[in-house]
Amino acid sequence: MTTVAPSLSPEQLQQAARDHLWLHFTRMGGYLDGEVPIIVRGEGCYLEDANGKRYLDGLAGLFAVQIGYSYGEEIGEAAAAQMRELPFYTNWSYAHPRAIELAAEVAKLAPGDLNRVFFVSGGSEAVEAAWKLARQYYSARGQHRAVAASIPSHPQAPSHDFDAEQAAKLVGERRWKAISRHVAYHGTTMGALSINGIPALRAPFEPLVPEVLHVRNTNRYHRPAEETEQEFTRFLLDELRQTIEATGPDTVAMVIMEPVQNAGGAFTPPEGYWQGVRAICDEYEILLCADEVITGFGRLGTWFGSERYDIRPDLVTCAKGLSSAYATIGAVIATDRVMEPFLVGERMYSHGMTFGGHPVQAAIALKNLEIMRREKIVEHVAEEQGWVRGKLAELLELPIVGDLRGTGFFYALELVKDKETRETFSDEERERLLRGFLTPRMFEAGLICRADDRGDPVIQISPPLVAGHAEIEELVGILGEVLVEAWQRL
Ligand SMILES: Cc1ncc(COP(=O)(O)O)c(C=O)c1O
Repeated sequence: MTTVAPSLSPEQLQQAARDHLWLHFTRMGGYLDGEVPIIVRGEGCYLEDANGKRYLDGLAGLFAVQIGYSYGEEIGEAAAAQMRELPFYTNWSYAHPRAIELAAEVAKLAPGDLNRVFFVSGGSEAVEAAWKLARQYYSARGQHRAVAASIPSHPQAPSHDFDAEQAAKLVGERRWKAISRHVAYHGTTMGALSINGIPALRAPFEPLVPEVLHVRNTNRYHRPAEETEQEFTRFLLDELRQTIEATGPDTVAMVIMEPVQNAGGAFTPPEGYWQGVRAICDEYEILLCADEVITGFGRLGTWFGSERYDIRPDLVTCAKGLSSAYATIGAVIATDRVMEPFLVGERMYSHGMTFGGHPVQAAIALKNLEIMRREKIVEHVAEEQGWVRGKLAELLELPIVGDLRGTGFFYALELVKDKETRETFSDEERERLLRGFLTPRMFEAGLICRADDRGDPVIQISPPLVAGHAEIEELVGILGEVLVEAWQRL
């Protein structure tokens, strides 16, 4: 086996990291004299740092490495073969075999008529592209309908008594707003950031892209105890409808939500929620986008969360799991209906990036999907999710663990000060508990998991989809010990 020759000693790496590498979402001041964590290799569900210490990866990279870290050889061969054949060509006006094959494969895996695939380089770009596509869809559709209406027998003529004034209105149709949910994370580029429902992430960059409205997410833990699931669903859907009505339905281009919302802690939908959201979008002719950057490609035990919850979205955004993060590739998947107005005459979706559908990235993603099918990874998640949940539920016995949420291989534990009242921590306690203690202590104990307080404080658990009983037991064991210690410190 060939390995990468180390060019810098561990000490030199540390120094160069401090001097030159700017980490994402990281308080760099903390590394002025502290050690930068440097991960040097991976195998299965484990990572190793520059000091030779092993860690169980309870977060799958960042909710991304579905197949774990052991397929570099096989995927590397596919990448090398593509490098030899065609190291790069663009999807800007041209196609090439790997992008075509990957688009066909993704369309086959995606539910319903989600058949049209537009490649990008990651999740934020996918969300950005989805919003732009939704915006342009309405003007393209208006033109399309106006043309259709001039042909009396056309099935898409909006009405029989169509006149020139109506035609002009259709041609000028424009919608631009997006609706997403509070505390939801959808990426960091300006459009995706504007869709984010996390005030602390938005604030430094305001004013943001107009205009996004935020509705409630499906966090049920802090709802009144006597509220039934049906009442909760109705409450959420009423709010969505009112938000659309208040802002003007004919200004709203897209509703974008994750099948299970990550930020805030794996909020699963209550019964009937997605059917209700779909019905409201249909009623107001708004495009529904399922942001599947995390839930896509197996995390919920189905290829897409949209399939699991029968969401029937018009658009899907995906990235991470598409290549198990072995490549930087993402996509917007659109239904045939969304593409229809773009198939006529000189119209086009006015968007593109040099690297969209990069052949080497596409070859890697294709190999990843082949491995996932061959190793029956999605089936593994579907079969094991009940056991995983049961194992994590053991942690509910701890006084600091208030709630366990999630499904598939995607969970969160909400930490509370008082289980009876569900009281959460003060800002100072969060800082001390999450940042000051839990994150570094888990790492010290050999577990990479995320303590997150973008909403109420939670520990996020999202292991590689190849994790077996041994890894999950180890994860629960370490988490249990660290949480007991955290409670004692409080
Ligand atoms: C739901 C969701 N959408 C979008 C993104 C942005 O993806 P990326 O970090 O690849 O830009 C993320 C990232 O975690 C995400 O979880």
